[in-house]
Amino acid sequence: MIPYGRQTVDDDDVQAVVEVLRGAWLTTGPNVELFERSVAQAAGTRHAVAVANGTAALHCTMHALGVGPSDEVIVPAITFVATANAAVFEGATPVFADVEADTLTVDPRSVEARITPRTKAIVGVDYAGQPCDWDALRAVAAKHGLPLVADGCHALGASYQGAPVGSLAAMTTFSFHPVKHVTTGEGGAITTDDDELARKLRLFRAHGIATDHRTREQKGTFLYEMVELGYNYRICDIQCALGASQLKKLDAWVQRRRAIAARYRAALPAIAGLEVLRDRDEAKNAYHLFVVKVPAGVDRAGVHRRLRELGIAANVHYMPVHLHPFYRERFGTHEGLCPVAEREWERILSIPMYPAMSDADVDTVVAALATALA
Ligand SMILES: Cc1ncc(COP(=O)(O)O)c(C=O)c1O
Repeated sequence: MIPYGRQTVDDDDVQAVVEVLRGAWLTTGPNVELFERSVAQAAGTRHAVAVANGTAALHCTMHALGVGPSDEVIVPAITFVATANAAVFEGATPVFADVEADTLTVDPRSVEARITPRTKAIVGVDYAGQPCDWDALRAVAAKHGLPLVADGCHALGASYQGAPVGSLAAMTTFSFHPVKHVTTGEGGAITTDDDELARKLRLFRAHGIATDHRTREQKGTFLYEMVELGYNYRICDIQCALGASQLKKLDAWVQRRRAIAARYRAALPAIAGLEVLRDRDEAKNAYHLFVVKVPAGVDRAGVHRRLRELGIAANVHYMPVHLHPFYRERFGTHEGLCPVAEREWERILSIPMYPAMSDADVDTVVAALATALA
């Protein structure tokens, strides 16, 4: 089976982890700091706060913005459920905005139409690795005095008008799950240029306690104070050693993803009716996923099944979040709220995309798609 995504772990990554296992710090130690510096450098920001996973990263952003029970947070309909769940964790109501049909990133006009006096924040998702229309989102956010969060969990290594994803919103979240650009097994981070937000994120990550064990050891003190309610969202040194080693290869891996995308883009138009997403001129896609649209009316589940028979494990990212039973039952969401998302999701398939794919693998996927659609 050629999977839709897969990690690459080299000998130097294994070595980096082994060294931590033989050292003094298994959790919050020097490798967390090292990894945070590397993530901040990749994102072009002053701060990176590393956490247990991308979902925790999103939760931290909601808390840092003071999102609470009477608030609404605008999120795109097409995203992983965690983007919306993070608002629910803080008792708020997610409000779903529709997406652009050709990029599947959030439609800034739909975002603006969803703003109410209760809106507390807007979350954009750089879907599949492609930055949103951040210029338009910034204009909407500025007009209404609202903070912007970027869910960049698909888009480490992407850029928009020359600026890296990570630096485009007040806070940006990343995930280091194995299918993402670099992995820590499970892991996440938030990047920001704002010192105060960074302080709040660090507090929330560690029970609301203002110092960590290593800092207290260095200062020779046992005293700590819990100043607010937080979680244990720490990531450990073992994971961060892996992440720091992986990050050294980010640029090369993103280049390879772009080369695979170019090969797909050259070959796929020959398959009648198959569409690919539009790449923005002003952005550079980091291609976490390569999403195609089967022709309208074609049985997508049938195509998916046939691809599996041909050795290709495609996937679907995502069913619109407002159509999940939890959201229907808890928030009364329903069909018709986001017509573009509801129409387009029926057609999408994520075909294999990961740096270790060979050109021959890409050609195999293209041939299988042509067979499945025929
Ligand atoms: C867009 C998006 N946001 C958030 C997450 C959550 O990240 P994690 O799985 O690390 O919790 C994911 C993970 O797949 C994602 O794709």
